[in-house]
Amino acid sequence: MSLIEQIDKDRVPEHVAVIMDGNGRWAKQKSMPRVFGHKNGVKAVRSTIETAGEIGVKALTLYAFSTENWNRPKLEVKTLMSLLVSSLKNEVKNLQKNNVKLQAIGNLNLLPEKARKELNEVINLTSNNSGIILTLALSYGAREELTQAFQKISQKIVNKELMPEEITEKVINNHLYTFTLPDVDLLIRTSGEQRISNFLLWQIAYSELYFTDVLWPDFGKEDFLKAILNYQNRERRFGKTSEQIEKIDNE
Ligand code: IPE
Ligand code: IPE
Ligand code: MG
Repeated sequence: MSLIEQIDKDRVPEHVAVIMDGNGRWAKQKSMPRVFGHKNGVKAVRSTIETAGEIGVKALTLYAFSTENWNRPKLEVKTLMSLLVSSLKNEVKNLQKNNVKLQAIGNLNLLPEKARKELNEVINLTSNNSGIILTLALSYGAREELTQAFQKISQKIVNKELMPEEITEKVINNHLYTFTLPDVDLLIRTSGEQRISNFLLWQIAYSELYFTDVLWPDFGKEDFLKAILNYQNRERRFGKTSEQIEKIDNE
């Protein structure tokens, strides 16, 4: 049986998030500059979006650039930003064809004007698509996201629009950039690093974590399907016992 045939259609994760890592090392292995790795990472992005849509994932969130990544060499940052613009231009047709709805999270004000403009254009163009929701995390940091949420909530308290005892998990969730998305079911990180690097801290509270040594430019359809199958072999207990979960499953 092929990998895709092994997927249980009833247990596809609703929200998959990916830390796309290892472009620099991929290029280094080939004695090429780091940006060569970034350029070759684009096809892995395309294949991941297509495969996720194909198997029925509802939301896919890709970590493309972190708040910390602004500290990289100027030339690398510049190239990543132009790559964002060219990829958006090149991929818009594919996104439309696959019925993908694009959105973005992060401190987008920091993006160069051109990138912000292109991003907004594609977001508008795809806004009526009803397929997979693709969220690009750009200039994104989870601590920054939480900080701005606390600031907005505090302002509401000062304005007497909200009482402190009314701050619930739901209220906090509603002030995050990801307020329209369900919690992350599966978090994938490529390149062998086993860390979160300031990605979606609140939203991954009960995610299944999947780490693979594959470097991002090499991450293909089969690799994504392997991650999904691995996820489907896990038991998500959410604090309960295995016996309780089996009982619910059998009901
Ligand atoms: C991920 O690849 C892409 C970004 C963070 C923008 P890296 O550029 O981090 O590649 P490595 O980790 O140095 O190999
Ligand atoms: C995390 O990768 C950010 C993205 C994939 C966009 P990094 O390569 O920047 O993470 P660290 O610094 O190695 O943890
Ligand atoms: Mg890295």
